Amino acid sequence: MTVKTLVFGHRGYPAKFPENSLAGFAYALDHGVEGLEFDVHLTKDQVPVIMHDERIDRTSNGTGLINSYTLAELRQFHLAENEPIPTLAEFLTLVGTHDVQLNLEFKTDKIQYPHIERIVMGMVNATPLKHPVIYSSFHLPTLKTCQQFAPDEAYCWLTGKPVVNAAAFVASEHLAGLHLSHYQADVPVAERIWTVDDPALAKQLFQDGVAGIFTDDFVAMTALRDEVMV
Ligand code: G3P
Ligand code: MG
Repeated sequence: MTVKTLVFGHRGYPAKFPENSLAGFAYALDHGVEGLEFDVHLTKDQVPVIMHDERIDRTSNGTGLINSYTLAELRQFHLAENEPIPTLAEFLTLVGTHDVQLNLEFKTDKIQYPHIERIVMGMVNATPLKHPVIYSSFHLPTLKTCQQFAPDEAYCWLTGKPVVNAAAFVASEHLAGLHLSHYQADVPVAERIWTVDDPALAKQLFQDGVAGIFTDDFVAMTALRDEVMV
């Protein structure tokens, strides 16, 4: 039996809601989203918050780096549609025991937030979720740090470049797989592709049986997946 490609809402449901917003996540959870991808940084007082960029300029009404603000200071600002900038704790409470696969992306490729690995994973592990979280990062050392104290979790390295000898690399780094911006046939185990919003590309990936895709419109892509993968 073919295992269906899992469709992840990339930053929630940005086709219809502000990206990485509680409103988008809540809608997705209420409408059967199978997976949710979201991005995590730390505030100045080391509180994990969900946002894509290191700076709040693009997606909020404020300016500056996330880690230049305490959580209280950061919360003076808001996303579009007056949505709050979510904390990881709020997000995890929202998810609760929904039947959804989470992919937490450590946004540590530009800023290496001290202790983010232990802070974030401690918070996740204290939350009773239905499925173990998949952890990813473009910054491989972040995943290696996580592995030192939590070797059995699922870690996937994010990269936009082809990986030479992918299977050997995944095995030697003790990864669960790779999250790629392109299809690469020799990637083993947990090949997931971002960001797939083109139906023709999505159809091809479903036919190829990739493990997962990240998309800005999980509703459209889940429907297409169910047409292609019966
Ligand atoms: O995790 C997949 C994708 O989110 C990686 O790129 O920049 O959207 O976080 P980005
Ligand atoms: Mg991301």
